[in-house]
Amino acid sequence: MDTGLEKARARAEELRREIEHHDYRYYVLDDPEISDARYDALMRELTALEKEYPQLITPASPTRRVGGQPREGFAPVRHRTPLLSLANAFDEGELFDFDRRVRQALSGETVEYVVELKIDGLAVALRYENSRFVQGATRGDGETGEEITPNLKTVRAMPLRLRRTVPVLEVRGEVYMPKRSFARLNEAREEAGEPLFANPRNAAAGSLRQLDPAVTAARQLSLFVYGVGEAGGLDLQSHSQTLDVLAELGFPVNRERRLFADMEGIIDYCRRWQQARFDLAYAIDGLVIKVNSLEQQARLGATMKSPRWAIAYKFPAEQAKSRVLGIMLRVGRTGVLTPTAILEPVHLAGTTVSRATLHNEDIIRERDIRIGDAVLVQKAGDIIPEVVAAVPEDRTGKEEPFVMPSVCPACGAAVVRPPGEAATRCTNLACPARRREGLIHFVSRHAMDIGGLGPAVLGQLLAAGLVRDPADLYTLRHEDLAALERLGDKSAANLLQAIAKSKANPLHRLIFALGIRHVGERAARILAGHFGSLDRLTRATREELQAIPEIGPAIADSVVNFFAGEQNRRVLEKLAAAGVNMRQEAEAPAGGRPLAGKVFVLTGTLAGFTRQQAQELIEGLGGRVASSVSKKTSYVVAGEDPGGKYDRALALGVPVMREDQFTALVAGAGAEQSGNRPSGGQAENSRT
Ligand code: IVH
Repeated sequence: MDTGLEKARARAEELRREIEHHDYRYYVLDDPEISDARYDALMRELTALEKEYPQLITPASPTRRVGGQPREGFAPVRHRTPLLSLANAFDEGELFDFDRRVRQALSGETVEYVVELKIDGLAVALRYENSRFVQGATRGDGETGEEITPNLKTVRAMPLRLRRTVPVLEVRGEVYMPKRSFARLNEAREEAGEPLFANPRNAAAGSLRQLDPAVTAARQLSLFVYGVGEAGGLDLQSHSQTLDVLAELGFPVNRERRLFADMEGIIDYCRRWQQARFDLAYAIDGLVIKVNSLEQQARLGATMKSPRWAIAYKFPAEQAKSRVLGIMLRVGRTGVLTPTAILEPVHLAGTTVSRATLHNEDIIRERDIRIGDAVLVQKAGDIIPEVVAAVPEDRTGKEEPFVMPSVCPACGAAVVRPPGEAATRCTNLACPARRREGLIHFVSRHAMDIGGLGPAVLGQLLAAGLVRDPADLYTLRHEDLAALERLGDKSAANLLQAIAKSKANPLHRLIFALGIRHVGERAARILAGHFGSLDRLTRATREELQAIPEIGPAIADSVVNFFAGEQNRRVLEKLAAAGVNMRQEAEAPAGGRPLAGKVFVLTGTLAGFTRQQAQELIEGLGGRVASSVSKKTSYVVAGEDPGGKYDRALALGVPVMREDQFTALVAGAGAEQSGNRPSGGQAENSRT
């Protein structure tokens, strides 16, 4: 017997269990226990073992989440039980009608309902055999879908094996793209002159239906499951029990769900979510009301299209009417000119909107939007305001069509619109607007995170000729800054400190900050992890880059081109000379404030701490304790008998943790003191 192999087999299995456990903590419970660096180390060890002993690779290994070659097409999958759709209710009257129909069909029996969020994504069916994920498919027409197993494997919230033995299980759920990922994806596409996704649902669908799973992997999709198709061996009585069992098996089940005995409570709940939904990290387009008892469900049955035991309450589309006061052009980092409508301020979906993107010249022409027009505005994916259409009936004849200028509004250089692209670009590499956007990106929170360096200060630094590229930030002196308008001695000192601190950032932040086309945060982490130093990355060839899972040809080309640029090389040399960290090992220094920026609210009685003790613990780790729950609250810690703060947290979508979770969090934070974790919020993940 090869003892080396046997040892490797045992260690690989141990690593897989550990990684699965941490994936579950991170992606499903949103309650990680270890730092990203420790997680990456586990993953690296497993990858190395599997490379040395390829015979140990299993299809359910976490390293197989991205693998395989791009495919020719999608095979059809016939669903064993059809994936039905839902009937819709657009107002409260239609909800009462539904309730009446249900009670009538059940001859007046007592009925209990479960109400869930209706996630705006794409329906999928996930098949498990002997507790292992074997096949995933889209809904398709409900009878036949498309087989997208490799793409689904890249969704980290989806378990590859179940936490308990189940012979056969088919689970149904919704794959979705969190609002933040959606916004960033569209920003990047706008910058690259690519067509935009109209909403997170289309973005999720477009990302899942990719022949190359590496593209799906780069898209930060997540999942909520809400039902079963086939469940041999699980003795299920009710829908709420089904959801609990799915959660126990390791599936992400949305925590916002409630039982109701009557419609009045349901209608109240629907009204609350109509507002509270804007605070969620993902888009929902309504709520789903389901009869809880599975036996009653069976008796109610289904029509051709939808079950009689469920209904979707759809939120009214939030649109507002405003007027286009002007069209402004923003010059982005890569020189793309993005037209933005300046609007008469109007209240829409939770905020006041006074500007809205018009994307590009073609869209303005297609929608025939003119300066002075009355327009309808809505938010794509609940966040990005956009002009949907003009209201031609309101025209006076004074409206003016928009004309794309032939020169850059910032520097006067010629602009070009390459054939086949929707984007118009400034051709001047030294364009001050491009430089400014590049700097804004470099210092931004997810990049080098230099607080206090806002667009205004950067603009002044550029205008004064003190800064031409990001590396110049590191040679700024106190007197340079203190001389700027509206910047006192104290602010100048704080800024210098923030700049100096950023030198120790982990490598992936620097890579992201460089603003290499197509290299988002995730790709930056992958590149940092793979090459370990900026120096090695600059020397990487196209082939080497493309051999990395999740790095496709577009990223590889863009990275190689970036480092081939003379100007970029010079900036890197200056950054190195300034002492900016360019190696992977140097994690951010132990800050001692792992809860910095986190706001906690305590409610109910904690068994292990007095309020005072809990507060001191949180503050000792850099967090803050507030007395009331708002959208800014990071976590509500609920002890025994929680009060109204608990309900408010649920309504606002603020994460709630039990005392044991809180204890684990402070214990973990105290032990790690890494301070470099992504922020919480269900499904807002940045782990690669
Ligand atoms: S239950 C037979 N629950 O909405 C019942 N669907 O308009 C099947 N959806 O195709 C659906 N969130 O893609 C259900 N909590 C939820 C849902 C949900 C989103 C989607 C699903 C379905 C569509 C129907």
